[in-house]
Amino acid sequence: MKSKKEYYTRDVKKKVTYTSNTLIHKTKAADWKDTLYFRMVPDSPHPEELPVVCRETTINYTAYIRGLGDTLLKLVSEALGLNPDHLIEFGCDKGLKIMCHYYPPCPEPNRTLGSKSHTDPDFLTILMQDHIGGLQVFHQNQWIDVSPIPGAFVINGGDLLQLISNGKFKSAEHRVLANHTGPRISVASFFAIYDRICGPIKELLSDENPAVYKEVPLMEYIAQYMWKEQDGGMTTLDRFRL
Ligand code: OGA
Ligand code: NI
Repeated sequence: MKSKKEYYTRDVKKKVTYTSNTLIHKTKAADWKDTLYFRMVPDSPHPEELPVVCRETTINYTAYIRGLGDTLLKLVSEALGLNPDHLIEFGCDKGLKIMCHYYPPCPEPNRTLGSKSHTDPDFLTILMQDHIGGLQVFHQNQWIDVSPIPGAFVINGGDLLQLISNGKFKSAEHRVLANHTGPRISVASFFAIYDRICGPIKELLSDENPAVYKEVPLMEYIAQYMWKEQDGGMTTLDRFRL
């Protein structure tokens, strides 16, 4: 308890935080989870700033995820028909945040959710989930279980990938059910940058494939994502459609 309290804050400038309900200001319902958050890239925390119980693990895991992230960004670049280094040169790997979620067992799981339905505000998310289950993705108008596979990561494309790929990659809507069993633990690693204006990649556009999104100041996008409740089924990204 004492070691958690030291990190408990909603100060978004902090590199290491521990919170319940990160986005509680945005919605009426609370998520059934606590989150240990690390902003690892850029400007990584000094090792002393990391909780001692997971200091080494966090450093090693970050190095691994950065390598895997670069491999995935190369594959996604190729899938878009671009040079393999395109997304890395663009800077997609210049920001990495890691969220370690702890979903306690829930006595009334039909009355809440572990994580509300959302899309991720990033290029790519690398998710590690334990064996408990509960993650679902919205596909063809229904919720589909993303069952845990031992040793496998779930890779999720986010809003920024949908934006720069001009909608070729879809940002998957997903949620986590609350569960009688547990606790459930997951670690989500987000690749994102917000320090620039960006729109669909020029090389992907043509007369047949005109831009469907504006040039978006990513700071404005993330502010809307963080603070505005989604209304009328409109996602944050929808607000930037042409
Ligand atoms: C997230 C997320 C899923 C999970 O952190 O954005 O969707 O399994 N996490 O915890
Ligand atoms: Ni998510």
